[in-house]
Amino acid sequence: MRAVPESLRLIGVLLAAGAIAGVGSLILLNDPDKGVAAAEVLTGGIVARGKIAIERRQCAACHVIPGIAGAKGQVGPSLDGVASRRTIAGLLRNDADGMILWLRHPQAVAPGNAMPDMGLTDREARDIAAYLYSLNEAPS
Ligand code: HEC
Repeated sequence: MRAVPESLRLIGVLLAAGAIAGVGSLILLNDPDKGVAAAEVLTGGIVARGKIAIERRQCAACHVIPGIAGAKGQVGPSLDGVASRRTIAGLLRNDADGMILWLRHPQAVAPGNAMPDMGLTDREARDIAAYLYSLNEAPS
């Protein structure tokens, strides 16, 4: 029996790899937590921890925040849809770095605005950013 030519074997390997990648992307597309995964990759934070941090830090006193019990505050803007806004507080580019900077140092970014510096750690800010970006499609 003649050996399978090298080039045919390569094509076989490529086809198999393509099939595996195809199935993989189908699984990803059907994953209801895709928004969570994407937000965590983008921010380096953990969505579930972000939710806890938001509750502990009482962001609800000033903001409407989907998924947070009693978050009906009207001092600041609603955070529903914040992920798809172009800017943060009209000043910073809305990406992971901008969001983390705002959460940690709102008074440095916009001196005198009504959102106080709350002494968030980098970790907390990352987790909160992940939570906020998981609510809607994150900025690209
Ligand atoms: C005492 C009220 C107050 C508290 C507490 C507060 N914020 Fe804010 N926040 C504001 C105000 C006011 C603004 C608007 C600032 C501006 O646009 O100059 C704002 C803006 C924001 C924005 C930007 C929204 C946008 O669309 O530009 C985010 C994100 C945000 N806050 C998240 C949080 C999170 C998370 C917490 C809790 C860790 C928190 N805030 C706590 C008052 C508050």
